[in-house]
Amino acid sequence: METKVRKADSEESFQEAARILQQGGLVAFPTETVYGLGGNALDEEAAKKIYAAKGRPSDNPLIVHIAKKEALSILAEYVPKRAWVLAEHFWPGPLTMILPKSKRVPYGTTGGLETVAVRMPNHPVALRLIQESGIYVAAPSANISGRPSGTMAEHVIEDFEGRIDMILDGGMVKVGIESTVLDLTEEVPVILRPGCITKEMLEEVLGEVVTDQAILPQNQDKHLPPKAPGMKYKHYAPKAELTIVTGEAGRVQQTINKLITDNLEKGLKTGVITTIENQQMYIGGVVQCIGSKEETGTIARGLYKVLREFDHLQVDCIYAESFVEDSMGEAIMNRLQKAAGYSILEV
Ligand code: TXA
Ligand code: MG
Repeated sequence: METKVRKADSEESFQEAARILQQGGLVAFPTETVYGLGGNALDEEAAKKIYAAKGRPSDNPLIVHIAKKEALSILAEYVPKRAWVLAEHFWPGPLTMILPKSKRVPYGTTGGLETVAVRMPNHPVALRLIQESGIYVAAPSANISGRPSGTMAEHVIEDFEGRIDMILDGGMVKVGIESTVLDLTEEVPVILRPGCITKEMLEEVLGEVVTDQAILPQNQDKHLPPKAPGMKYKHYAPKAELTIVTGEAGRVQQTINKLITDNLEKGLKTGVITTIENQQMYIGGVVQCIGSKEETGTIARGLYKVLREFDHLQVDCIYAESFVEDSMGEAIMNRLQKAAGYSILEV
């Protein structure tokens, strides 16, 4: 199949993309978080194509993207008041709400679940595409299952050239990690996946909110099943083995430098993920700078790009510093820990 790549800057590009979606095809498009791989959410056949293109397990449900808040009541069987309050505060934006699904939403889209995930993205290209096509767009992150999510059109081309109908190129995304997923079917709302809409921000609006215990790093050896099916898979991973090194900054650098030297002696190439502040500290490794420690926003934005670049640099193993765990840091560390398969070295 030929994959058309179009800049998202002309009426023709949008018309063509909208037509493909209406006819049951797949179009990748930018959102503010990551690129999405879109298809008609109410068309089971389109959903099947998404799973096939990504190589995604079919029990892992898709997020349905909407361009108007009111669409929530078409996709959900029942919309509690707090969902409307959240929509008012955070939509359009990086918050996905889980609600009981309406009959219109096929099980093919929800991975067989009785619930549906809905999000109104805050990106002009995404909103215009959904509006012009007149459909609800099921879109997982645009990456082959298990790989880092795509944050630039180039990443999407790398993974999907020849496998989908079209890619709308809207440049690099703003946020860089996927939306916060919040389950509203429980009495106390549960964060199933952390994102840049933090627990604190949600609690200001809702009162008590809890985080799914299964996704916390300290509970990994307990083998609790995560409530979001997608969180149980190893994810976001570069091809080389990744280890996070935590501890006092000086010791972390010493340890990584020692590992670089040991590896060099064995003829192995070592990658390092660090920040602008520390990038001069490492000798002999392939150093990738992910942003400034002071700005977690830039770290989130650069994370997947750096993980992908390591695949091209053909390193044998990668060490990452641990990044600040402020509210946004929690989401970043969640992705990094998953990419590392929870391999963490404390020094
Ligand atoms: O920022 C984002 O959310 C991006 C952009 C494209 O919008 N999308 C995205 O989709 O990250 P995806 O499919 O890669 O991740 C969706 C996550 C998965 O972990 C999935 O298991 C969970 O949301 N999820 C979806 N529907 C669910 C449901 N009904 N119940 C529980 N978890 C659900
Ligand atoms: Mg994903």
